[in-house]
Amino acid sequence: MAYTQEHYEKVREAQKRSYSPYSNFKVGAYLRTKDGKEFFGANVENAAYGEAICGERSSLVAAISQGYRPGDFESLTVTVDADKPSSPCGSCRQVINELCDDDMPIYLTNHKGDMIETTVAELLPLGFSGKDLNI
Ligand code: THU
Repeated sequence: MAYTQEHYEKVREAQKRSYSPYSNFKVGAYLRTKDGKEFFGANVENAAYGEAICGERSSLVAAISQGYRPGDFESLTVTVDADKPSSPCGSCRQVINELCDDDMPIYLTNHKGDMIETTVAELLPLGFSGKDLNI
């Protein structure tokens, strides 16, 4: 499904759930499955800063925990409050690469409504995956 206003409204709702008292950088994620289910993610920080969990990964972990499997996902939309949409960190790219199809669209947005469309393969070219382990 192509990017719509609904993706934007839902990811902005997800962002409100961010727990980010240390950075004040609120990240929202809206993950849609191929069978139409929706999962919401947000970054969750900790006084031990390194334990912060990113919004992108929190949406994927929620979906997998509820029984969804690699390849079940249709799109991931991410939002931040920044001059331009932010792109997922390296750790998130690796986890997205593990769980999502190479051509799955990823929509990167911000508070102004800017949107950059990319894909899993574009974010992690030549990525390491289960294929390298013959799995
Ligand atoms: N963050 C994300 O949620 N996703 C990313 O891909 C990059 C960074 C979060 C982690 C931390 O809570 C805050 O943004 C600032 O780094």
